[in-house]
Amino acid sequence: MTALYALDHVSRRFTSSGRDVTALDDLSLTIGQGERWGIVGGSGSGKTTLVRLLAGLDAPSSGTIRFEGQPLNLPGPGASASARRVLARVQLVFQDPMSSLDPRMRVGAIIAEPLRSRSVRADWPPQARRARVDDLIAAVGLPQGSAQRYPHEFSGGQRQRIAIARALAPRPDVLIADEPVSALDVSVRAHIINVLNEISDRLGLTLVLVSHDLAVVRHLCDHVAVLRSGRLVEAGPAEDILTTPRDPYTQALLAAQPTL
Ligand SMILES: Nc1ncnc2c1ncn2[C@@H]1O[C@H](COP(=O)(O)OP(=O)(O)O)[C@@H](O)[C@H]1O
Ligand SMILES: [Mg+2]
Repeated sequence: MTALYALDHVSRRFTSSGRDVTALDDLSLTIGQGERWGIVGGSGSGKTTLVRLLAGLDAPSSGTIRFEGQPLNLPGPGASASARRVLARVQLVFQDPMSSLDPRMRVGAIIAEPLRSRSVRADWPPQARRARVDDLIAAVGLPQGSAQRYPHEFSGGQRQRIAIARALAPRPDVLIADEPVSALDVSVRAHIINVLNEISDRLGLTLVLVSHDLAVVRHLCDHVAVLRSGRLVEAGPAEDILTTPRDPYTQALLAAQPTL
């Protein structure tokens, strides 16, 4: 079976203030349909760089990324319709929900926004959009009537629910979440994790979750990739890596986790 994602010797280099930074260094990895990957590693290890590549927001400096066997092209003016369709199947949730929610828009319009995008398969008539928004609001556990309200009227955890609902609107196959609970109070983290868990199960989503909290990864993911200084330290089934890590770096990460 063709892998959903196949990364082959992927590197991403940046030049910043005259210095060369290798954010990702010769990374090869395969992600299967429906798998749930946790990407872990210290600050600056390349996690966000990796998820931006998977989402098609950035391109490798060298190496190739294939999505269902096809090279993943960047969107933009020159992008083919098929590349845009592929990228609509991949949606992102960020660490800080407030930064990705337009404060002047009502929540209903925010959630429906991806349904207006040219890259989504079908054109959704207004009535279908409203029904879809109501379904999504219920699915992520937001109160009825949320569609009429503005982001600032919600708590941090509820805003992350809004961001998740918007990500699900175009019926993606892949949900990528970069530290989705790190900015939230400890008391609401478990709720958001449960929402992600339920939704991934119900929709059979492929999940790519970046977290420095291994307890979160243990709860949500069946596969783990460990990054250090842009290099893939080890990758494989979560059970193996989180119970019997082979690499000393992974062992140190696990030892530093008080929650385990
Ligand atoms: N746009 C960029 N320009 C220059 N350097 C970058 C850029 N994006 C990331 N980096 C560098 O690449 C490395 C990896 O960053 P990042 O992927 O954000 O790590 P992480 O998400 O694991 O904290 C860091 O050294 C960071 O400073
Ligand atoms: Mg990051």
